Amino acid sequence: MAGSPRVICASGDLTDGGAGVRFETTRDGERTPCFAIRFEGKVYAYLNRCAHVGVELDWSPGAFFDDSGLYLLCSTHGAVYEPESGRCAGGPCRGASLIPLPVDERDGQVLLMEGVQHG
Ligand code: FES
Repeated sequence: MAGSPRVICASGDLTDGGAGVRFETTRDGERTPCFAIRFEGKVYAYLNRCAHVGVELDWSPGAFFDDSGLYLLCSTHGAVYEPESGRCAGGPCRGASLIPLPVDERDGQVLLMEGVQHG
């Protein structure tokens, strides 16, 4: 499937272990909430859908990390996820994973690499 990258945000909008950026993509014809974060210098993006019950993770828009800045946290029942893999490291969905999206960073912009199959 061909497609071109889409700009999610400016690189400077994502601070390491800090606030993320929410965006939407279309999956199976439905608008689907997603988010991008930065961890150890690298940008990652996932569907904003907890592997437990499927609700959005952030308790306030963009608040995805826990206090330590080391894990992504679901605000509903406290599942924690590894930012670099999306794997649940604790909580009710242990062993499950967030669904990753392909992202890249070029020329000061964070890009969603559309055209790559999203799971
Ligand atoms: S919905 Fe995320 S931990 Fe239950």
